[in-house]
Amino acid sequence: MTNSYSQVIAIDGPSGSGKSTMAKKLASQLNLLFIDTGAMFRALGYFADKAGVEFKEGPELKNFLNSLEIQYSDNAEELIIINGENLSKVIREHHVSTHASVISQIPSVRSFLLDFQRKLGAENICVMEGRDIGTVVFPDAFCKIFITASPEVRAKRRLDQLKENNPDSNETLEQVLEDVVERDRKDTQREVAPLKVADGATVVDTSEMKASEVLNHLIEIAREKAKGHNIDL
Ligand code: DC
Repeated sequence: MTNSYSQVIAIDGPSGSGKSTMAKKLASQLNLLFIDTGAMFRALGYFADKAGVEFKEGPELKNFLNSLEIQYSDNAEELIIINGENLSKVIREHHVSTHASVISQIPSVRSFLLDFQRKLGAENICVMEGRDIGTVVFPDAFCKIFITASPEVRAKRRLDQLKENNPDSNETLEQVLEDVVERDRKDTQREVAPLKVADGATVVDTSEMKASEVLNHLIEIAREKAKGHNIDL
């Protein structure tokens, strides 16, 4: 018998909303595979840059994509391996964010990763996190959650993180807030797979919530949705 829904908990939202941390914790609590789709865009951006491939549609990019063999696991040490090269650490470097952001706008790259993500999601009950999981990748996911927070709260969180990583950083809240607003504008207005709340998604605004409250709320939402779909969580 085939299901009329996918056994995926789709989690989307803007950066700094706490979505990645929360999605990972949710997967761990429910004992499900965690799929970080941002890591895939990062890995492709890094790999394409290293190979000197131009970030635009054309035969060069097509050949490049055809030459890739991607392995994904939710073991942080071996999160993502492309053609035998373990990229799990390097993808977190700051400059890789820029490559990821540019390459994620290219339709053939999105379509390449879409196939990969759908295959992974079809093989496992999982928590998949990104920007377009509930809207494009698995619009039929049994559970869709959109995690957000106000731009001010996200800027404050980002600044705290920057200061933690580099106590000498002289970045101000105003600058970080400007970045957050600009990133939101780009993410929501881009032509391909713009960031938006998927039909049927539950919106969770974490601005005024503690991490433990968010996690409990997510578990509650996922279990409630699972009940309605005869999924055992
Ligand atoms: O979530 P992140 O910062 O690791 O994502 C890296 C980049 O990839 C970011 O520019 C947004 C993009 N991305 C996307 O376009 N679609 C996804 N499903 C996940 C990430």
